[in-house]
Amino acid sequence: MKRLGVNIDHVATLRNARGGLHPNPLIVAKEAISFGADSITIHLREDRRHIKDIDLKKLSNTKIPLNLEIACNYKMLKIALKNNPKFVCLVPEKRKEITTEGGLNLIKYYKKIKFIVDRLNKKKIRTSLFINPSFKDILYSKRINANCVEIHTGRISNLIKNKKNYLNEFKKIKKCAKYANSLGIEVHAGHGMDYKTTQILSKIKEIKEFNIGHFIIGEAISIGLKNVIKRVKNSIKK
Ligand code: PXP
Repeated sequence: MKRLGVNIDHVATLRNARGGLHPNPLIVAKEAISFGADSITIHLREDRRHIKDIDLKKLSNTKIPLNLEIACNYKMLKIALKNNPKFVCLVPEKRKEITTEGGLNLIKYYKKIKFIVDRLNKKKIRTSLFINPSFKDILYSKRINANCVEIHTGRISNLIKNKKNYLNEFKKIKKCAKYANSLGIEVHAGHGMDYKTTQILSKIKEIKEFNIGHFIIGEAISIGLKNVIKRVKNSIKK
């Protein structure tokens, strides 16, 4: 069975827009799990633009399987070790990007990433590296001793959404997933995914976990409107 991790960063984005407490990422995380999500992902960005330290603290105090995404630096490592999430995914981070633009540069930051992964492995936190679909990055992930890789699906998602030919990208992801699996690395996938991308990538049996955020939260707003408007209209009537 493939697992689904739900990224709730954009619940925090919406909350922060008004500076209050609603919508509450903790409540949404619990709801997501009760509806069948296997884990909850949050990205504690260095600029704290969505998820805040208090969100991490509150989620860490629950039994929810938490996947913490962090940039590769010692400050974030310290935060991860202190909060002890079940899973950590290392991602590249640029201040000016809207969302994570590509995979990690495992060659340039090899030593640093290896140090961070070693520390997390020692604490029995499952480690994952967010990478582009490339053989070289998978080989380096093995050398780094990461438990998992998460393949960046931004490119294939865009191709599918724009009704372009995605077959080459699909084949590349499939080959990479098989290669990683043959090396004993668990394969995850994420970024830009929606119903259609999920359906297509689900054909790759080596992918064991999908991490989806923006689409799920966006879609929840769209199709959840019905219940909310009903409740508000009911309140007006009373
Ligand atoms: N996986 C990783 C490593 C990410 O950085 C993100 C974006 O925060 C996602 C998955 C989810 O991407 P999206 O919000 O486009 O579904």
